[in-house]
Amino acid sequence: MSIKNPEERIIVALDSPSFGHAFSVVLKLREKIKLFKVGPVLFLSNGPNGIEQLKDLEVDIFLDLKFHDIPSTVEKTMEHVVNYGVNMFTVHSLGGIDMMKSVSERIKKEAKKKKTPKPMVLAVTMLTSHDEKNIKDLGLDSNIKDQVLRLAALADKAGVDGIVCSGHEVEYLRKEFADRFTYVVPGIRMDDKTHDQKRNITPAEAFDKGADYLVIGRSITESHNPEIVVEQILDSLK
Ligand code: C5P
Repeated sequence: MSIKNPEERIIVALDSPSFGHAFSVVLKLREKIKLFKVGPVLFLSNGPNGIEQLKDLEVDIFLDLKFHDIPSTVEKTMEHVVNYGVNMFTVHSLGGIDMMKSVSERIKKEAKKKKTPKPMVLAVTMLTSHDEKNIKDLGLDSNIKDQVLRLAALADKAGVDGIVCSGHEVEYLRKEFADRFTYVVPGIRMDDKTHDQKRNITPAEAFDKGADYLVIGRSITESHNPEIVVEQILDSLK
């Protein structure tokens, strides 16, 4: 199956502890890849300044801090999210419908106030590092599928723009919610080096099942030749 514009739909996760390493990965890949994800590792090591430096390389940023706090606290961070000029960011759906609703409403107001495009609000459902046993350990009396559907229904009511889910869930989420959401899928592997991820899938399978964007981190960033890995991924999608 041939995938349309795959280079615009692959997000490289920059979880390197050193900003220098992350910066060099972006320099190597920016001709091929447009979107890069900044999570807590990079954000806490370099703060907003790191985001500015990456944006100077003319790439788009996905801020993945998975906000999970009371509604008023998360809502107040929206002004800063807009100031950073990121394209998308995450909240944790387990933070609840009231928090997600406050975020969806406040981000619109902040973007309008600053006359800037509204960043996409993405709700993380269940982490791709969880399996059924981990869900039980958390005390959730449900399986992953039902839990993800329930959280996505809350995200829908709260007005968020997209969902982060594993490749195993994207197919039934798309069936249930169709194009209501943008679907972002991490836990992507080309080989059996899984690291701490448990619900993995290949890039071609993930797009085939309905993903809009894929998040790929260590398979690319820990390689000595990230450009070659990206080429291989893009080739696998032709
Ligand atoms: O290195 P790897 O490809 O496993 O990176 C996946 C990225 O996606 C990490 O940055 C991780 O924080 C993020 N992520 C995830 N599972 C989620 C949400 C985000 O792995 N449910």
